[in-house]
Amino acid sequence: MRTTVSVIGVGYLGAVHAASMAELGHEVIGLDVDVDRVGALNDGRAPFHEPGFEEILRRGRDRDLLRFTTDYAELAKVDVHFLGLGTPQRADGNGADLTYLQAAVDALCEVLPARDGAPTLVVGKSTVPAGTARMLADQLEQIDGVRLVWNPEFLREGFAVKDTLAPDRLVYGVRDPEDVEETEQVVGMLDAVYAQILERGTTRLVMGYEAAELVKVSANAFLATKISFINAISEMCEATGADVTDVARAIGMDDRIGVKFLRAGVGFGGGCLPKDIRAFMASAEDLGIGESLAFLREVDAINERRRARVVDLAAEMLGGLEGRRVTVLGAAFKPDSDDVRDSPALDVACRLRTAGAAVTVTDPEALGGVEKRVPGMPTEADLDEALRGAELVLLLTEWGQYKELDPARVRELVADARIIDGRNVLEPRQWREAGWEVRSLGRP
Ligand code: UDX
Repeated sequence: MRTTVSVIGVGYLGAVHAASMAELGHEVIGLDVDVDRVGALNDGRAPFHEPGFEEILRRGRDRDLLRFTTDYAELAKVDVHFLGLGTPQRADGNGADLTYLQAAVDALCEVLPARDGAPTLVVGKSTVPAGTARMLADQLEQIDGVRLVWNPEFLREGFAVKDTLAPDRLVYGVRDPEDVEETEQVVGMLDAVYAQILERGTTRLVMGYEAAELVKVSANAFLATKISFINAISEMCEATGADVTDVARAIGMDDRIGVKFLRAGVGFGGGCLPKDIRAFMASAEDLGIGESLAFLREVDAINERRRARVVDLAAEMLGGLEGRRVTVLGAAFKPDSDDVRDSPALDVACRLRTAGAAVTVTDPEALGGVEKRVPGMPTEADLDEALRGAELVLLLTEWGQYKELDPARVRELVADARIIDGRNVLEPRQWREAGWEVRSLGRP
């Protein structure tokens, strides 16, 4: 069944969600206050690097199922409104900034008509502190026939289209799961939107608002903890001469632990994990139970330490950083992304530069982002040019082309054959045999 759908806030999450809903055959209007973004999307241009996104964006445009606007008035007749707004870290602290989300709900309330009969459904997708959904529901449900479901999004950059159209599970948070009649009505409406996903056997879990909100932040906190756990073990490995990749592989084979998210290195970054664990801690503080999530402070601290450790290692290998030619391979927070938000690689590059090193950053996709975020950071798009004359190379984002570098060939380009493998993706023996001094994080 075709439904008319809006997606309010077409950043990363919202834009992918809008195009994915059109891919499912719904008629979709994406709304954003950013005129340039709306223009680009209406032209069928992706404002960010995401495999498969531009294709479904164009298909939605060609099938006349997808358009973008800045005008809330166009949303008045829509059946289902998704809220895809960002909830960044607050400028004045660690909590989540709900300004954009609140402003969108206020604007939506202005245009939502009171309806009897079929309700209008509002579906929250943003990552929020527990309690937000109930607060917004109290506001939205003052309009007759409007109902709110909280339906967190678990997409990963680089897999965003797949994660949206073929998620591991769908989570629906409702006001009162015990209220069977009410719950059946809103669940039915959202099921109709996701019918094709559910028909493929995807599990759908219905729970209260607060549980749904907590599922999202808990999942991210767990992933961050897993990474910091293995990075803490990598510190133990460094002190004892063990190889953390051996430890990770062996513990990961216990399927209660699992091998994923056990790659030790320079740590996690991006637009989600760092801010989400901080917002989660702030939320616990607000609830008066800060100690419950105090361990996340350590998770954050371990992650920070990784970045400092790389800089120390660089200084140690070079006998000081002042004026030394250093090449940083990678700026994106992870490969196959052009996103540099809270990127460990870019942060290390900045720290090296502050310490006086002559840094050059290269990345296949993210240099535009570097120029915007750190104006004046020297960048070089051509990999060979970036490597030429380097006294130290740091591999900090594990792009495929960096993993496949030929140590003998690269040796011809650099001034001194020294490399730090900040992601543990190179074969140290192969590089050493080619005459390189190789240091890794957590490997002898
Ligand atoms: C994450 C969650 O995975 C996703 O479910 C949520 O919706 C948003 O946040 P994303 O930010 O796209 O997704 O990146 P992810 O692939 O999770 O990687 C996060 C960071 O952890 C990256 O900087 C990555 O390099 C790092 N990482 C990941 C490690 O350092 N080691 C690992 O083993 C895995």
